[in-house]
Amino acid sequence: MSAVPARAPVPLGCVLAIASGKGGVGKTFLSVNLAHAFAQLGERVLVFDGDLGLANIDVQLGIAPKSDLASVVSGRVELADAVTPVVGGSNDGGFDVLPGRSGSGVLSALSAEEVARIAAGLAALSLTYDRVILDLAAGVDSATLRLAASADDVVVVVQDEPTSITDAYAFIKCLRARDDGAAPALLINAADGWTQARRAADGLTRACEQFLGFTPPHAGAVRRDDKVRDAVRNQELIAARHPQSNAAEDIAKVARRILRG
Ligand SMILES: Nc1ncnc2c1ncn2[C@@H]1O[C@H](COP(=O)(O)OP(=O)(O)OP(=O)(O)O)[C@@H](O)[C@H]1O
Ligand SMILES: [Mg+2]
Repeated sequence: MSAVPARAPVPLGCVLAIASGKGGVGKTFLSVNLAHAFAQLGERVLVFDGDLGLANIDVQLGIAPKSDLASVVSGRVELADAVTPVVGGSNDGGFDVLPGRSGSGVLSALSAEEVARIAAGLAALSLTYDRVILDLAAGVDSATLRLAASADDVVVVVQDEPTSITDAYAFIKCLRARDDGAAPALLINAADGWTQARRAADGLTRACEQFLGFTPPHAGAVRRDDKVRDAVRNQELIAARHPQSNAAEDIAKVARRILRG
């Protein structure tokens, strides 16, 4: 594999929504591990589980939170009190998580007003952090688009395969139909090499330029790495379990590019 291509920094805002068209492309894995990378760079970070139907950040991290978004929606706790701290690793800072509740059904049935209230609460809470990562559900349902539109910037996770690229384009189109100023950045995941990553980013960029009239910023690429599955299976952060892995190296690079923007 050739060397990592040199890239300019991508200026992205404090509240970053991590989105995709197709499911299973690595949003949750990237959300928690980017959060860890930002924390290692000295930022105070919150990860918010915005996958309202199938929340699973707690599972990904192997934590058993006392309260979560469902407790907030039911009025039992305030948003700020539903935050759970996560220890980053032996020699680096941790970050906070606001978990959802998988399979409870409560969060998938939220009204537009309730989603708007959560988005407003998150905007207020974000003032106490340097970075908020909002892990979204896949697809273009209205709660997901509403949460995406509430973020400062959206990062669309894409893999180098036609279904992922087509669905990412559909997501971007729907987001811009709701918010015409949105210019979501592209993050290629599980790329088999830099050539493949570039191909996926270039294909999607051309479609955005030709049909939507804007050029999406490129947030970078994370290589496909067997160590990811091992870290996920063991409910550990990749940089803690496999600090020398390609995926850990690439995620740290993406975080540095975004931070220096
Ligand atoms: N860079 C990578 N290399 C290898 N495998 C990866 C990589 N990124 C993610 N994966 C694998 O993909 C699986 C699915 O990732 P994840 O759950 O983060 O996807 P998702 O986009 O959040 O899914 P959903 O749309 O269901 O929320 C992970 O459990 C992991 O095994
Ligand atoms: Mg997910």
